[in-house]
Amino acid sequence: MAVCYELMDQFMEILRPITTVEDETHGFRYMEGRSIVGFIDGTENPAGIESMDYTLIDEDQDPEFVNGSYAFAQKYIHNMDAWKKLKTEDQEKAIGRHKFSDRELADEEKLPNAHNVVSKDEEGGVEHKIVRMNVPFSDPAKDVTGTYFIGYSKDFAITNRMLTNMFTKSDRLLDFSTPITGNLFFIPSKTTLEKIADGDY
Ligand code: HEM
Repeated sequence: MAVCYELMDQFMEILRPITTVEDETHGFRYMEGRSIVGFIDGTENPAGIESMDYTLIDEDQDPEFVNGSYAFAQKYIHNMDAWKKLKTEDQEKAIGRHKFSDRELADEEKLPNAHNVVSKDEEGGVEHKIVRMNVPFSDPAKDVTGTYFIGYSKDFAITNRMLTNMFTKSDRLLDFSTPITGNLFFIPSKTTLEKIADGDY
């Protein structure tokens, strides 16, 4: 935390006069890489080299910003009391996976609006993926517990379609989760950052 503080303090010397800090959320890694709702997070994420194909802007797409990425961040508050009142089998039907083993439920066992059904993007008959992470946070003094979602994609349209699907198809997880922020960030590549530092942009 001390190193984080020092780094933040140095950044803020430059940023303070030109920015407003809207929010600071301290997340943590929950047990066994689970999301705060108790299910293993990130199973269907593309991993390793494959993840680069889904997240980094390529030459054909946008040559000027190659290797950059679009990060969408959204803070959710969960109604943990209501979620915890659900039986494990009902939580499993809502997420679409088994809680302990992380095995996927058969399609007929899932709710039609299970999270892993409605969050999928299959535009044009092809499955499009993003790289996601759900970071738990909790403030017992305010009785607030939630998830800081972040999803990286080479094309924000994919993330946007996932969100639209979740909200228009009444994702069961959203019965227990309320979004309170939502922001899209462009993440420049190291080369672009160097150009900015050299005054070339
Ligand atoms: C409210 C906070 C959220 C929680 C707690 C959550 C949790 C989960 C969990 C536990 C899984 C199953 C394991 C996995 O494959 O990662 C999952 C899958 C998934 N989530 Fe979320 N998620 C949240 C929000 C979102 C949002 C905002 C999006 C899209 C913008 C999203 C997109 C996906 C996708 C695409 C999958 C994989 C579906 C599949 O192909 O099986 N999630 N999520």
